[in-house]
Amino acid sequence: MGIRAEDGVAMIPSGVDAARGDGQGPARDGDLLEAVRARSLPGHVALIMDGNGRWAQARGLPRLEGHRRGVAAAERVVRFVAEERLFPCLSLFAFSTENWNRPPEEVESLFTLLEQFIRARGDEFVERGARLEVLGAIDALPASLRRAIAEIEERTRGGEALHLVVGINFGGRWSILEGVRQAMALARNGDLTPDELDNAAFSRLLPTAGLPEPDLIVRTGEEKRISNFYLWEAAYSELYFTPTLWPDFDETALLLAIQDFQGRRRRFGGVAQ
Ligand code: FPP
Repeated sequence: MGIRAEDGVAMIPSGVDAARGDGQGPARDGDLLEAVRARSLPGHVALIMDGNGRWAQARGLPRLEGHRRGVAAAERVVRFVAEERLFPCLSLFAFSTENWNRPPEEVESLFTLLEQFIRARGDEFVERGARLEVLGAIDALPASLRRAIAEIEERTRGGEALHLVVGINFGGRWSILEGVRQAMALARNGDLTPDELDNAAFSRLLPTAGLPEPDLIVRTGEEKRISNFYLWEAAYSELYFTPTLWPDFDETALLLAIQDFQGRRRRFGGVAQ
């Protein structure tokens, strides 16, 4: 059964302790945080939040409950990154262009949860100086969600502490096709020649224009694939996969992913320095 926007905001626990539900307080490891801070941090981390359904299934709960806990996990991570000013840009892949293949009730519930998240956290985003940007083919989304997106983007436009990018009806292929459409339109008007279309010029035509390319892409929940998230932008991203199901992903899990990233040698096609 689907849910409505006015249902259940209160059922999504807010705050780290409530979200964890284990009464053990924030999953913050001070030593780990210090160790991570002491080394070079990524500028942009992108998260593929997978495993909500399996998390719920393992507990005999409806999939929707897994998604609710998934929202709580996302809130926890966003709050941590903003509070600690860990890195300036965080992307969350919330709904892919392929997620329409789920049962309509689940799709509807996901949109409702995303709208609740946006509406319920608006003040906090403003207070914390977070700028929220939604990337994706938003014309296809329900009108109330589109309104919530427009409002939050407007309200948080000046936020400088964290650039939070949420992919909703986003797909890497969609994004590339949007860029190609732009290029074709420019070419048709005589404003772009084939020779002028290099990597930098094409990047500026994509919906992701202006975003730093992700340094680190983290995927939870066992599978090891990109699933049509950032494609063009992921050319030199470091990939990190963890079997942890998304609702269990916490501050420590994020720090461990960053620590792993800090051990990588990035050569960008060149030779090690
Ligand atoms: C994957 O779980 C998760 C999604 C389909 C995305 C929805 C994500 C959330 C609701 C998290 C909150 C996001 C924000 C931006 C607040 P799945 O259903 O694919 O899990 P499964 O593979 O175990 O079935």
